[in-house]
Amino acid sequence: MILDGKTALVTGGSRGIGRQVCLRLAAMGAMTGINYVSNSSAAEQTLAEIEQSGGRGFLAPFDVSDSAAVQDAVKKITAAYESIDILVNNAGITRDGLMARMKDEDWDQVLDTNLKSAFICSKAAMKGMMKKRWGRIINMTSVIGFLGNAGQVNYAAAKAGMVGLTKSMARELASRNVTVNCIAPGYIITDMTSELPGDIQEAIKAQIPLGTLGKPEDVAAAAAFLASPESGYVTGQTLHVNGGMYMGN
Ligand SMILES: NC(=O)c1ccc[n+]([C@@H]2O[C@H](COP(=O)([O-])OP(=O)(O)OC[C@H]3O[C@@H](n4cnc5c(N)ncnc54)[C@H](OP(=O)(O)O)[C@@H]3O)[C@@H](O)[C@H]2O)c1
Repeated sequence: MILDGKTALVTGGSRGIGRQVCLRLAAMGAMTGINYVSNSSAAEQTLAEIEQSGGRGFLAPFDVSDSAAVQDAVKKITAAYESIDILVNNAGITRDGLMARMKDEDWDQVLDTNLKSAFICSKAAMKGMMKKRWGRIINMTSVIGFLGNAGQVNYAAAKAGMVGLTKSMARELASRNVTVNCIAPGYIITDMTSELPGDIQEAIKAQIPLGTLGKPEDVAAAAAFLASPESGYVTGQTLHVNGGMYMGN
């Protein structure tokens, strides 16, 4: 239980990748906060699964793009559990459409939920980490931030922005022994990708050397490493979990 005594907060922990990250960090011994914005039954299910396997967790409902709500939630979590030692900025949405027809609000919503959120949540949580001289911040980017994708200018911009944010934060926080890294999943089977038509899924598989879409557990394994004490000399990096579909950095 290498995360015994640590508190983790996973944004968007109710479903998909975030749920598996919660289960994994809790299995490693962390008291794990499950953030979500609206789907309380999914979040309760995540908590139930954690508790059934002997782990400990709590629900933390708030909108990650709402600065006041984030500050309030972090204050309450810190009061209850002393500090947030591990923050996984995972919450994300898509509002796809070709740029010529994309509404400003689709741009704003995706940038606010997928990128500004990481700034707000990290800023609120990092004070405690800096004080304790230990912390892990993990930002969920995407292969799309590296490749680009027609119909996703908003999403690709937010995810590419996450990489610059991560590298700069890593430089700012290194002297306090707080590491900041990205995970860049490829195509992972979750609610976000289940809407893709079958022929598109087949076309995507054809671009993946390992030949299948990934599972949330594949991404959770990367988060487990980056959250662990063993990753202490890794900062400012992106760990790609994509079946080989993109091999650059
Ligand atoms: N699936 C993929 O193939 C893939 C690939 C690359 C990167 N990613 C990234 O991985 C992350 C997780 O993706 P996923 O596929 O697991 O997504 P998902 O299944 O659609 O789940 C999204 C999660 O984010 C939460 N959320 C959305 N807006 C929020 C807000 N304003 N405040 C707080 N929580 C909010 C949702 O909460 P509710 O349950 O309350 O709605 C839910 O827990 C995202 O950042 C995504 O961009 C996914």
